[in-house]
Amino acid sequence: MLAMLQETKKAQFIGIDWDPEAIAQARSRIGAYRNRCCLIQDNFSNLNAILKQQDVDKLAGVLFDLGVSHHQLATARRGFSYKYDGDLLMNMAPDNATLVEKLSNTTERELVSVLKNYGDVRNCKKLGAAIFEARRALRTTHDLRALVEDVTPRRFWKKTLPTVFQALRIWVNNELENVRTALTVAFQALECGGRIVFISYHSGEDRIVKTLFREYVRQGFLTRLHKKVIRPTAQEIAQNPHARSAKLRAGEKCVHS
Ligand SMILES: C[S@@+](CC[C@H](N)C(=O)[O-])C[C@H]1O[C@@H](n2cnc3c(N)ncnc32)[C@H](O)[C@@H]1O
Repeated sequence: MLAMLQETKKAQFIGIDWDPEAIAQARSRIGAYRNRCCLIQDNFSNLNAILKQQDVDKLAGVLFDLGVSHHQLATARRGFSYKYDGDLLMNMAPDNATLVEKLSNTTERELVSVLKNYGDVRNCKKLGAAIFEARRALRTTHDLRALVEDVTPRRFWKKTLPTVFQALRIWVNNELENVRTALTVAFQALECGGRIVFISYHSGEDRIVKTLFREYVRQGFLTRLHKKVIRPTAQEIAQNPHARSAKLRAGEKCVHS
């Protein structure tokens, strides 16, 4: 957002993140641009209500930088990463249920499906059953890590741990459903000729964007700005290794839509 503020002179921006820590960080960064930028702590799937509240009718552009932030992953007390020990929270917004709360209210079948669909976890059945069995005893990220390592052959630890944590995080935050709603609402709010851009980091997110873009193109509502999905260059990945799985898709709303 800072780069966009720097590149424009008059454009007004609305920045939305449902994590109060992200909003606080952004607030301290925008400094001199504060009069052109309104920061809102909310779920971006509530875009309609947010725009009404801000008395905004149409948007000239929308950029979604999806998923989890480096700050969230690297903050042990947030419980997002198997690398650091912290309470098993993973909720991006304080009023969302935490992972511990979600686990207390789930079924083995749901857990297996979460691991399969959101993480493509190879031994999802065995792991889902083990997590379900131990769910009341799991309190910290390292409790969960120890359980995953117990159930998984050592040679698969490196691949399995991030996918299990990713799957559970997507579940806790209802991430895919939020993207689907937000895309539809944002597209409606976009003015004719306005541009919509998505940066996604997970195949599930990208699939939703790809499918809805394809449908809008088919209906004549959207023109893709690039034939193919845009991936980060080797130089960008060297500067920011977290960008390695990023996929960018961009489109322009057609004038007659
Ligand atoms: C990849 S990070 C964005 C990083 C940011 N562009 C920057 O440069 O610092 C993704 C952010 O999206 C936020 N987020 C994820 N799902 C959200 C949702 N449904 N509503 C609002 N914010 C969400 C997360 O809290 C996280 O801060």
